[in-house]
Amino acid sequence: MEQPLELIDSHAHIDFPQFEEDRAAMLERARTAGVSTLLAVGTGPGPEKLDAAIPYAEAHDWIYTSVGIHPHEAKDVTAQHLDQLAALARHPKVVAWGEIGLDYHYDHSPREIQRRVFSQQMELARAARLPIIIHCREAWSDCLDALEAEWGASGLGGILHCFGGTPEEARRGLDLGFFLSFAGNVTYPKAQNLRDAAKAAPLDRLLIETDAPYLAPVPHRGRRNEPAYVVEVARTVASVRNLPVEVVAAATAQNFRRLFRLEKITAARPAGD
Ligand code: NI
Repeated sequence: MEQPLELIDSHAHIDFPQFEEDRAAMLERARTAGVSTLLAVGTGPGPEKLDAAIPYAEAHDWIYTSVGIHPHEAKDVTAQHLDQLAALARHPKVVAWGEIGLDYHYDHSPREIQRRVFSQQMELARAARLPIIIHCREAWSDCLDALEAEWGASGLGGILHCFGGTPEEARRGLDLGFFLSFAGNVTYPKAQNLRDAAKAAPLDRLLIETDAPYLAPVPHRGRRNEPAYVVEVARTVASVRNLPVEVVAAATAQNFRRLFRLEKITAARPAGD
């Protein structure tokens, strides 16, 4: 029998209500599919629940989590929320701050407020010594300017989640020490730009994710996404790079552990470097 792949889903919203009915079974399917580690993004429903994903990280040794406020909810953020986040960031299973950033596509919060809350969270993440997970949509210029001015010097890096920028934007992110993470939309027929970006990215700076429950990859497109489907992202990235899927799975897993300094914690390591 073939050895199962070791996959790491670097971004999933497992606390979301879409998983209310079958969360335990969904996590079991992820394990069966070879998901060794998962980052449960902790932005939850918004500032009213800042510890949304922490219970799952506490219940499962293979699940890590993040804290942060999504740019959509920037308008609701108070000083008290930021204090609460700083306290939650000390939890041992919190390995990242995010997802934070700018979203000028939906503009759910005024752009000026998004930029202020993004800056405030970068400052807190720097103090907590945590890499950041960036959500950036139609805001690359402001986002990369802010990262260059306020984050690069920290040396902490992070993830450009669900990357969808241009080659130049990828280069600026890589120069800042970021990893590029590709989601289910890399499998969509019209998303040649994403496949080009996944092909051009250095193998040692590549990550894969589901962004579940959103962006289900082909052949699950149009339905709820879940971490078990991260294998489809790995397959597409491998195919555009002309690599065996095992190589992409192992490299992205290794990259995840390197970024979050999990080498000593995780027992199962792929062979080689
Ligand atoms: Ni997300």
